[in-house]
Amino acid sequence: MSTTRFLTGITPSGTPHLGNYAGMMRPAIEASRDKNVENFYFLADYHALIKCQDPERVQRSTIEIAASWLAAGLDPEHVTFYRQSDIPEIPELTWFLTCVTGKGLLNRAHAYKAAVDKNNASGSEPDDGVTAGLFMYPVLMGADILIFNANKVPVGRDQVQHLEMARDMASSFNHIYGSEYFTLPEAVVEESVATLPGLDGRKMSKSYNNTIPLFAPREQLRKLINSITTDSRAPGEAKEVEGSALFQIYQGFASEEESAALRQQYAEGIAWGDAKQILFERIDREIAPMRERYEYLIAHPAELEEILQAGAVKARKLATPLLQQLRGAVGIRNLAQASKAKTKAAKTALPQFKQYRESDGQFYFKLVAADGQLLLQSLGFAAPKEAGQSIAQLQREGATALAAIKPRLQTLDGVSDDLVIQALEQLREAAEQ
Ligand code: TRP
Repeated sequence: MSTTRFLTGITPSGTPHLGNYAGMMRPAIEASRDKNVENFYFLADYHALIKCQDPERVQRSTIEIAASWLAAGLDPEHVTFYRQSDIPEIPELTWFLTCVTGKGLLNRAHAYKAAVDKNNASGSEPDDGVTAGLFMYPVLMGADILIFNANKVPVGRDQVQHLEMARDMASSFNHIYGSEYFTLPEAVVEESVATLPGLDGRKMSKSYNNTIPLFAPREQLRKLINSITTDSRAPGEAKEVEGSALFQIYQGFASEEESAALRQQYAEGIAWGDAKQILFERIDREIAPMRERYEYLIAHPAELEEILQAGAVKARKLATPLLQQLRGAVGIRNLAQASKAKTKAAKTALPQFKQYRESDGQFYFKLVAADGQLLLQSLGFAAPKEAGQSIAQLQREGATALAAIKPRLQTLDGVSDDLVIQALEQLREAAEQ
């Protein structure tokens, strides 16, 4: 049975900070150690161009983010770790998907709509300053996911709509070209991961300029931690953990016991300077061993390049054959094989059984007429074998089997039993020839 495939994209447009680490990298790296799943992690550098047109910064950020993931423990031997721009199949698939995606669907994307709303509010033209890149961004993201037929995509709340759009694109393509080329991916929204506050107490975010870089050198880390906003309570005065950015950041790194101990010290009136020292030491204890590896990789970008190239080779082993199949599906084909293809098409102008797995983990089959009309649609089966046995029974026994298998089928409007039996007969005759 195929394993569940997880895929995560990280846009290289900044320097990773402690919030990224605690909220996303650390849980993702832990999850990547699970032997029962396949993991794809990639640097979404084409996406970076949408928001960042400073080439030095794109390159710098690509280096920093690649080095951060590796230093934090991502093992490129066990996961597929690659850079989006090394997979030419992704932009090609983007175009195929563009041609099956309604423009209206993209009009509704949150990021695009927010830009339009802002323009409307300020009395500008609706599309002022909006690039086609921003508009097309959900399609590029759809291609990132569908090219590897990922089942699960861990994302933040803000990305859930993009996953719904990816599902739409996948089903449109499957429907138009008449086969289950794509699995429908699902968003996984992890609610329980830590969101760290930044230096000023608001959510730690590049856009608030309140971040602590993950791999700040030790002394800079200490300085930044010392600049975390606290209240004016003096040493000896009891302090509140609620609303204390310092305490919340500590919780993002400490064990339950460690957090309980600091809570106690707050109540006992620890001086802010001492609390900051405790926080600094706790973070540094976790980060220091990784920092060494990070600094090494930053100083050896050729090694990063090599790791990413090896990842691309691994990724393209899947992407290249799928794209080849998709090219054929849409009619972009080697013309030398045109006459063969035609006779094959004439021979296969028969109804067809199709068996597939849905993202709910169940197995399904359907019968599709030569003209694409859906004749039978099964309910879910727990095992592929059960779906296969039903198909075999229908092929063998025709009308008799149809009555027996009815309870495992969906009712389809406008499809008479006669039509189905006729199709089954046609299949049986063809099999006998
Ligand atoms: N859009 C995502 C973000 O801004 C990054 C991303 C690009 C992504 N392609 C993806 C995430 C595919 C998951 C899957 O966070």
